Amino acid sequence: MPGSDKIDPWPTDVGVIAMEVYFPSQYVDQAELEVFDNASTGKYTIGLGQSKMGFCSDREDINSLCLTVVQKLIEKNHISYNDIGRLEVGTETIIDKSKSTKTVLMQLFESSGNHSIEGIDTTNACFGGTSALFNAINWIESSSWDGRYAMVVAGDIAVYSTGNARCTGGAGAVALLIGKDAPLVFDRGVRSIHMQHAYDFYKPNMDSEYPVVDGKLSVKCYLHALDKCYQGYREKAKLTGIIKEDSGLIDSVDAFVFHSPFCKLVQKSFARIFLNDFLRESSPDFFGRYAGLESFRDLKLEDSYFDRDAEKALMAASNSMFTTKTKPSLLLANQVGNMYTPSVYGGLASYLLSASPSELVGHRVVLFSYGSGLASAMFSLRITKDLGPKFYKLFENLSNINQDLQNRVKVSPEEFDKTMILREETHNKAPYSPVGSTDGMCPGSWYLTEVDSMYRRKYDRVPLVQLPNGNVKETTSFHQIATEQWPDSRAGL
Ligand code: ACO
Repeated sequence: MPGSDKIDPWPTDVGVIAMEVYFPSQYVDQAELEVFDNASTGKYTIGLGQSKMGFCSDREDINSLCLTVVQKLIEKNHISYNDIGRLEVGTETIIDKSKSTKTVLMQLFESSGNHSIEGIDTTNACFGGTSALFNAINWIESSSWDGRYAMVVAGDIAVYSTGNARCTGGAGAVALLIGKDAPLVFDRGVRSIHMQHAYDFYKPNMDSEYPVVDGKLSVKCYLHALDKCYQGYREKAKLTGIIKEDSGLIDSVDAFVFHSPFCKLVQKSFARIFLNDFLRESSPDFFGRYAGLESFRDLKLEDSYFDRDAEKALMAASNSMFTTKTKPSLLLANQVGNMYTPSVYGGLASYLLSASPSELVGHRVVLFSYGSGLASAMFSLRITKDLGPKFYKLFENLSNINQDLQNRVKVSPEEFDKTMILREETHNKAPYSPVGSTDGMCPGSWYLTEVDSMYRRKYDRVPLVQLPNGNVKETTSFHQIATEQWPDSRAGL
């Protein structure tokens, strides 16, 4: 129990102690969606780099996603609800203009008697989760810290109206347990922030789940924010010794994880970092990694967002580095789609899954978080070299992700379309009884059972253990599954 320690005024190695990822148990195939949408073959799969898109029926909303991921994190790690001193949610999936999702999550803490928990919801498109994370880190590093863990939840249901943006949806939630002496330690003094006013993507219509989106402008804003964050991060990373005076950022870091609206934009973003390194290089090696790029030496960043020739050449030149340093982080982005606030943390989980823990020891990971409107940050963490139980448990708890992805049910584009129409027609309806099936939902998932005439929402949880004969063994705890699937978890944290 962290609170029982003498409180250290300047705790060391603050970072991610544990993480949990949740995504819907159904998806639509992007190649089938291309046919259904009359899009040209390859547009979604090759052009945007997406394979599958997770989506929710009317049984799931932002509260249920967050209930699921928080309870799973607590149960898998065998920590007490009393160990949490700060809990906050980053989301742009708003179903109530006043009551936060954080307060809904307090139901999970009720029986523990722990009502002394700081934090509330944070909203700005896909950036809310990162802002919540920064709040959590700041709290632990402040005089307000009481020695307990912070928990950060990022969750969203990303849906677009029919048209060219719909295929870039997705859904999911990620919970991060933040504390000191963590296996993933945030670098101090390097956070780089870029914030600006832009109408690239926003949700002014409270009657609809759908954003108003200017797709091309959002891509331009994203790349502009990346350039700005790169510049700030680079300067700070030089001061802290992460980057040597004349080195490029790419050479100084083992992995780059990006917010992923669609995977092709992430590959372009990696090429953008390569371009920034190239333009800063005093004497670029045109016989080595910069071969063929001579004509782009005087390229102006602000003129190059849609320069297809430069983009193509830079992507080709940086492809092998992209394959090593960023592609491994795209598993969930490719298989689930844009989860909005959890996207960059889904990327981090994917990266951690991509190699054995011993191969990742000591790696430094740069993260780029972007939320339209716009708010963005570049920051970094390092994977600890301290191979204690917390280190292995972090990885072990993520090891079900591949299996969970495979266990999902494929739904036809026709059914997906009907589900979107159902969500449209019943969005914020009261009273309302959801009609979607809960059959395929993962054990331990929360789902909506009712919205009453006063808009009060009620939820239930899919029982945890499904016996081979189809009967359900009732249980209120995740521990049984946890100990079956994660034998070492008995050690707790
Ligand atoms: N085979 C292979 N590639 C193809 C094919 C095909 N048959 N058809 C098109 N493509 C390529 C295009 O060349 C293009 O690639 P390029 O940009 O590298 O040249 C890509 O597929 C997409 O095609 P576009 O015609 O540009 O796509 P469109 O304009 O219809 O929509 C967009 C793309 C703007 C991303 C849209 O899906 C959208 O608005 N999405 C939501 C906004 C978004 O995600 N913004 C990003 C940051 S903000 C955030 O996270 C929400």
